[in-house]
Amino acid sequence: MATHTHHDTGGSNAGDLADLERIACELAVQAGRLIVDERPRGLGVAATKSSDTDVVTVMDQRSEAFLHERLAELRPHDGLLGEEGAEQRGTSGITWVVDPIDGTVNYLYEIPAYAVSIAACIGEVPGGAWSTVAGAVYNPITGELFHARSGGGAFLRRGDHEESLSISTERELARSLTGTGFGYDAEWRGEQGAVVARLLPKVRDIRRIGSAALDLCFVGAGRLDVYYESGLNPWDQAAGQLVAIEAGGVVQGRGDDAPGKDLVVAGPAGLVADLKDVLQM
Ligand code: IPD
Ligand code: CA
Repeated sequence: MATHTHHDTGGSNAGDLADLERIACELAVQAGRLIVDERPRGLGVAATKSSDTDVVTVMDQRSEAFLHERLAELRPHDGLLGEEGAEQRGTSGITWVVDPIDGTVNYLYEIPAYAVSIAACIGEVPGGAWSTVAGAVYNPITGELFHARSGGGAFLRRGDHEESLSISTERELARSLTGTGFGYDAEWRGEQGAVVARLLPKVRDIRRIGSAALDLCFVGAGRLDVYYESGLNPWDQAAGQLVAIEAGGVVQGRGDDAPGKDLVVAGPAGLVADLKDVLQM
């Protein structure tokens, strides 16, 4: 499957999808408030460097535990997959894929670009073919809530204001603001750096915002023309992928592969094709 189009909603009807989207939105906002409101005083770069127990990890775990608990109440038959280890098979065909804090390094440094990402998925997640049918990504600092459901369009809500999103109309890679990110493994970063060095002269500029979930939503909002990254896990990308697609974009992997750990490229179809050509050089 070359591109996720999300027309197959796994037998769910529009009403079900609207419910899933509403739950994703509510829980993303609640968990987002939790990580801000309950952030330990004095949590900062210096504090974490001197201790073995990573305070960020503690907040990650608390956010995931909250989501786990709420989803078990609201959707007892669904499965769950979370970055902090939650993995539960369900019987409904829906699996919730959650990133309790995406952009943890930004969270640590108080750079206002982190988010809670919640997606309702169908298929074999993480190992097989899967896709997202509803999702939400919430940045608790800017108050921006990005959300989408399959076939329903992509939206950005801030307070009482809601706007529908559409991707960039840029057609030239040379004029494209290109988002990317890097993994945590040093050796892998070396290779990722070499790819960026080759790409940088061919695009308008590069952004490394630090949250893959927000990067994908920014593609949906046209704040990035195009985005690529290798090494992402399902929770980093599940909700953001749907926002990018419902805003008119395509999300692809390498060659004809579905997007996955190997590669995710998101944006307008033409830019995605041109960027993939450069990445495969
Ligand atoms: C990371 C962020 C980052 C991306 C990394 C991810 P985390 O997730 O999304 O932007 O470049 O690949 O691992 O660790 O902050 O949840
Ligand atoms: Ca993440």
